[in-house]
Amino acid sequence: MRVSRDGGDDDASEALRPLELDDRTSVLVLTGAGVSAESGIPTFRAAGGLWESHPVEQVASPEGFARDPTLVWRFYSERRRQALACAPNPGHHALRGLEARLGDRFLLVTQNVDDLHARAGSQRLVEIHGNLFQTRCSRCALPPFREEAVHLGAEPPPCPSCAAAGRGGLLRPHIVWFGEMLDPAHLQRIDRFLAAADRLVFVAAGTSGAVWPAAGLVDLARAQGASTWLVNAEAAENTARFERFVRGRSGLVLPVLLGGA
Ligand code: OAD
Repeated sequence: MRVSRDGGDDDASEALRPLELDDRTSVLVLTGAGVSAESGIPTFRAAGGLWESHPVEQVASPEGFARDPTLVWRFYSERRRQALACAPNPGHHALRGLEARLGDRFLLVTQNVDDLHARAGSQRLVEIHGNLFQTRCSRCALPPFREEAVHLGAEPPPCPSCAAAGRGGLLRPHIVWFGEMLDPAHLQRIDRFLAAADRLVFVAAGTSGAVWPAAGLVDLARAQGASTWLVNAEAAENTARFERFVRGRSGLVLPVLLGGA
């Protein structure tokens, strides 16, 4: 495994060594679909803009849900089944191990909704795109609740709170869809972590750097003077923003990079 510098590729690269972290250094990690790929969950870009043969807008937008909530629930029900059949891989476990060593000097921000980081034991975890196993109402303020059930019937599941009030609200997955805002509380948590960090290392892994605001985290970290690492199977859209790029599978690279920290 080789490390290249300043957005370059394999020229003038050096061998990968574990991060050396002193007791004043904090680590912020951003993960994307590539980190779950080795658990058997396909990435978004690999699917060529189609998710299980559905255009993204059909199954991952408020408009798509309004048009056909039954189809959207079928789609997310299949994703629940798929994720439950998968297990965390060594990349997830390496992140959990680093958290165990650093405690509050560690924060994991993930774009993944598959729950695999939580299942690996990560606790200082911000799921900025939501979680596949949380459900909320599309109409009322019913708080999101944990749900592993699948909804494959002809009728989408009604919200019990709306039903009790005589309204027809439908339950929906607690996932950030296209055109929706991230939870401001999540962004504040990341800002607070950055502000409290003395020295900072930022690691992004398994993400194409194409979706904002996640793709801009590297710039926030650099503004704090962080050293920045990208671990990805191929160059990302924002590779040039990182000081160091390790091209490789996260399940192989993260245990080495984070292992001796
Ligand atoms: P993408 O599917 O866009 O990118 C996955 C990246 O992981 C690609 O750059 C791959 O090269 C890389 N990759 C694949 N396998 C890998 C492995 N084993 N090890 C390391 N890297 C690997 O996924 P994201 O960047 O996570 O948003 O996508 C961001 C967001 O786009 C998703 O959260 C989703 C989607 O729209 C929402 O659902 C809101």
